[in-house]
Amino acid sequence: MRKADPVDLIARAREAAGFSYSPYSLFPVGAALLCEDGTVTTGANIENRSYGLTVCAERSALAAAVSRGRKQFRAIAVFCAASDRPVPPCGACRQVLSEFCRPEMPVYYAGKDGDYIASTIGELLPSDSLHDLKRTISASRQPPPS
Ligand code: THU
Repeated sequence: MRKADPVDLIARAREAAGFSYSPYSLFPVGAALLCEDGTVTTGANIENRSYGLTVCAERSALAAAVSRGRKQFRAIAVFCAASDRPVPPCGACRQVLSEFCRPEMPVYYAGKDGDYIASTIGELLPSDSLHDLKRTISASRQPPPS
């Protein structure tokens, strides 16, 4: 997939939701990340009996992509199989996605009937905190001028 087609990407997220491990919430979620190279990496939510250890679908997809060397992305789609309405990524996922995704990157999120809302990382995470931490740190690690 070269260009982000929201309907196709949501279909991939829907497929991924089929692999969700969500016995506690019964709320399966799938995510599909369109990588810069045109490939799509998917993820599903993975819950734990110690609830706080749950990993959301978006972070599963991102971890899978980065673990395969893909660090640049064109779009993400999220599909919530048990929701009548589209559900946007949670706050933790917005922060983690923003580490790799530019503010203009499209985020499509859909409920179970496939109706979706199109947003962007920047809209979902305005006033991004620590956005220049990487730059500040790398600048401070430069050798001092001689
Ligand atoms: N969940 C996601 O996977 N992504 C979201 O953006 C919202 C929440 C998961 C976490 C948990 O397994 C279930 O949905 C209910 O919160």
